[in-house]
Formats: sequence, C-alpha cells, structure tokens
Amino acid sequence: MRRAKPAVRRAATDDDAVIRTRRLTKRYGTLTAVDNLDLVVHRGEIFGLLGQNGAGKTTTILMLLGLTEPSSGEARVMGLDPEREPRLVKRRVGYLPDAVGFYGGLSGRQNLRYTANLNGLRRDVAEHAIADVLEQVGLTDRADDRVDTYSRGMRQRLGIADALVKTPDLLILDEPTTAIDPLGVVEILELLRRLVNERGLAIMLSSHLLTQVQSVCDRIGIFAAGRLVGQGTVDELAATFGDGTATIEVGLELPTPADRSRAQAALGSLSGVTEVNPPAKDGDPWQVVVRPASGEGRVRQEILVVAVDQSLRLTTLRPVVPSLDDIYRLAVTRTAA
Ligand SMILES: Nc1ncnc2c1ncn2[C@@H]1O[C@H](COP(=O)(O)OP(=O)(O)O)[C@@H](O)[C@H]1O
Ligand SMILES: [Mg+2]
Repeated sequence: MRRAKPAVRRAATDDDAVIRTRRLTKRYGTLTAVDNLDLVVHRGEIFGLLGQNGAGKTTTILMLLGLTEPSSGEARVMGLDPEREPRLVKRRVGYLPDAVGFYGGLSGRQNLRYTANLNGLRRDVAEHAIADVLEQVGLTDRADDRVDTYSRGMRQRLGIADALVKTPDLLILDEPTTAIDPLGVVEILELLRRLVNERGLAIMLSSHLLTQVQSVCDRIGIFAAGRLVGQGTVDELAATFGDGTATIEVGLELPTPADRSRAQAALGSLSGVTEVNPPAKDGDPWQVVVRPASGEGRVRQEILVVAVDQSLRLTTLRPVVPSLDDIYRLAVTRTAA
C-alpha cells in the first residue's frame, strides 16, 4: 500500500510537479487548438481544466499522453517527455478518455483483466489489483455482470477502475461526468476526492461544467480558445479577475424597523465596508461589501464585536464564496479584450 498523502497544495517546486508544460502548442492547419500553454499540476491535487467545447482540452490531454505530437513547446509528465517516452508515460498515468470503450459482452472484471494484461501485469498481481479497484469504485457487486447491462455512471466508474488497475501516480480524466445524472456525478466526484486522499495520486480532469469543477478541484485552469487565461484556486482566480471586493453574508434577527436601522448604521460604520444591502425579504441575510477584498476576515470579526456591542442577534455570518461562473465570464471577457 502506498501512503496516503493529504490533498493539500504544496509549494510549486519542480519535484512536486506531475505535469509541467512550457509554451506547449498544437496547430491543425491554420487553427491553433492549443496556444503556448504553460501549465503546472502538483502532486496530491485535483486540477480542473475548465473550458467550453473546442477550447483545446482534449488536444492538451492527448499531447500529455504522447497520443498526438505538439507543434512546438514541450511537456513533462512525471518528469518524462511524452513525445519521446510515450510508453513510460502510459505506464504511470491512468487515462479516462472522453468516450470510454468496453466490451459489452464481457463482464466488468473481464474487461479489467484485458487492460491488466495489456499493461503486462502478472496474473496474480492483476487479480488483486482488479478486486481492489472494483471495490474502490463501488462495483464489486456488479463486477461479474456484462458491461452492456451497466448504467452510464457505472461505465464511467469502470473507466476509472480501468485507469487505476496499473496503480498510476497520475490520473487524467477527460470530461469524466458528462452525460451522467446528477447523483452519479456526486458519486464520481466523491470517488475522485477519496482516491487523492487514500492513494495520494494527482488528478487532472477536464470539464466544461463550472459547478462540478468548483466543487471538487483544488486548482483550476481556465481555458479559452486554446489559451490558458488563468490558473489557481477559486480564491486566487477571484482575486485576479474579480472587482477587488469581497462580500459577507450577515443573518440578523431584527424584529423592529428601529433594529434594522441600527443594524444598517452599525454595519456601515465599519472601515472597509463600502455597501450594506438589506435583504429583499425578511429572514434572508444582509450583504456587506468590503473593499479591498483582503479586509474581509477583519471586517467579519468586527461584525461579531459590533453585534455583541449593539445587542444585534446574529443568525449567520459567512464570507460569500465567489462563483466560478462569474470568475469564468470575467476571465474570458477580460483576456479577449
Ligand atoms: N484532429 C483534429 N484535426 C483538426 N482539428 C482538430 C482536431 N482535433 C481537434 N481539433 C480542433 O481543435 C480545437 C480544440 O479541440 P478539442 O481539444 O477537442 O477541444 P475540447 O476538448 O476543449 O472540446 C477545436 O476547434 C477542434 O475542432
Ligand atoms: Mg474534449
């Protein structure tokens, strides 16, 4: 068993980069599908490549796996050059393509045996690994049923099992949740997080679905028309592309209009607060806008103090996490300008 590593972001040193690209470019005729890509993915993280259809996500993944040649620039995957050592890369990287193909007439277990055999795993080692990964993706009960009786979500989980059989250090998943129902999506995202925590591997996944990327990825690369327009945590991206403000939600029990004006005045008097927006309807939280965004934590603490001071009853107090949706729109429009 490999030791589990915590899913935290580490310093960006060379040795902990599982993927690193420099000015990686792919042209198809006059079309530049991937344009001077500089990308870093670290050990122990889930990295989301986010972009609309045609943004260049699949092309990037194919170059990382040595399945298509870059026009220029370079890539390193687990320190290897996929162009020159594609087989070594494939041995260490599990890959879930955007369209997974299995033999429908064979069982899940038989399909995995086929993959294990292709990867040169010894039979007894393979049987253990297969039982392990089937358990991990929750398919043990159905392992000996024919794959053509599986749901889409089950096939996708079998695809992840398939990518895991050779105990890779890195998983690359191309649109792993497309065409799966919402419950199945939650299951798969939880599975990915568990794999990172238990196996200590890194995951890069591509997706055009913002909320899914936001919910599971430690860091995100925003891709638009072949270019990476930003990469970082949601917070870092918000700081880069946001408008420089942060918002705090403040829930208050305010029985009388006098209480409300007292709250308005108290919140508005805090330094750094630029706007105090009362709720549209009773029971909803107030929105307090802070500038600069870095003052959010301090203001949140001062709200607590002022609430006690003024006998205002707090029900909730929390920073509003910026939506990736907003960040994405800002990033794409700003860099297109
Ligand atoms: N083999 C190919 N030949 C020509 N154009 C291609 C080929 N593969 C992809 N493209 C084009 O490259 C662009 C990026 O495609 P792709 O990497 O598949 O995007 P994504 O995976 O983000 O949807 C698209 O405009 C697509 O039409
Ligand atoms: Mg694609």
